[in-house]
Amino acid sequence: MRLRRHRPSRRRSPAPPEWVWPVRLTGLTPVGVALTLRPLALDDEAAFQDTRRANADWLRPWDATSPDPNDVPRRFAELVRQYETEAEAGRMLPLVIEVGGRLVGQLTIGTVVYGSFRSCTVGYWVSRSEAGRLVVPTAVALVADHLFGRVGLHRIEINIRPENVASLAVVRKLGFRPEGLRPWYLHIDGAWRDHLAFALTVEDCRGEPVLDRLVRMTGPAAP
Ligand SMILES: CC(C)(COP(=O)(O)OP(=O)(O)OC[C@H]1O[C@@H](n2cnc3c(N)ncnc32)[C@H](O)[C@@H]1OP(=O)(O)O)[C@@H](O)C(=O)NCCC(=O)NCCS
Repeated sequence: MRLRRHRPSRRRSPAPPEWVWPVRLTGLTPVGVALTLRPLALDDEAAFQDTRRANADWLRPWDATSPDPNDVPRRFAELVRQYETEAEAGRMLPLVIEVGGRLVGQLTIGTVVYGSFRSCTVGYWVSRSEAGRLVVPTAVALVADHLFGRVGLHRIEINIRPENVASLAVVRKLGFRPEGLRPWYLHIDGAWRDHLAFALTVEDCRGEPVLDRLVRMTGPAAP
């Protein structure tokens, strides 16, 4: 895939020139599983819908919902188009996670802000069949290294429902810092839900790539 340099829309805030879209990232989990992160494409429709359908019960308690009961779900083509528009503008990095050539989840960087903040948020899910293999922590690490190293962001934030033990394990393994409770923060599974905020800054990493940090924090000598 050809990468093109892109200067995002300046209407919201000035963006650094290193923003790249489309982007493709590859790497290995600490136990050697190969991952690819890439944009969602129109011909992913069947795989995407099948995976979401098969994992509906697994994802429902953690999926964002609309507070407007009259909202209709977007069609797949609209979703792909919206992702493209937002990514081209430098506001979002919407990626799918592939393992063994199969689409197994998503990792979505959103709320990308430049200027003096240079921060973003992360959302993610993986199929139940792939859970527990460090797929998502590795995907977050690969994207974090891209955002800190190439794009020039300074801070990455993840918000998690206090009940979501599996997602809390993800931020623990990556050494994100807890930043406290955000009451009624996001509309999830049909209601406004409290979230715990976690963040990682360039300073937290002390020059260590986030993927190396993950390997260290999940290795035999991990805390
Ligand atoms: C949260 C989630 C993304 C973690 O991804 P992952 O790639 O499985 O991450 P890990 O391999 O590090 O496992 C994280 C935790 O999942 C749990 N887990 C492990 N194996 C599991 C399995 N087979 N089935 C279910 N959960 C499992 C464990 O609590 C594990 O933590 P531990 O290693 O300290 O025991 C994934 O569980 C998921 O997609 N859940 C549904 C959607 C969701 O919660 N999204 C996040 C919203 S903030």
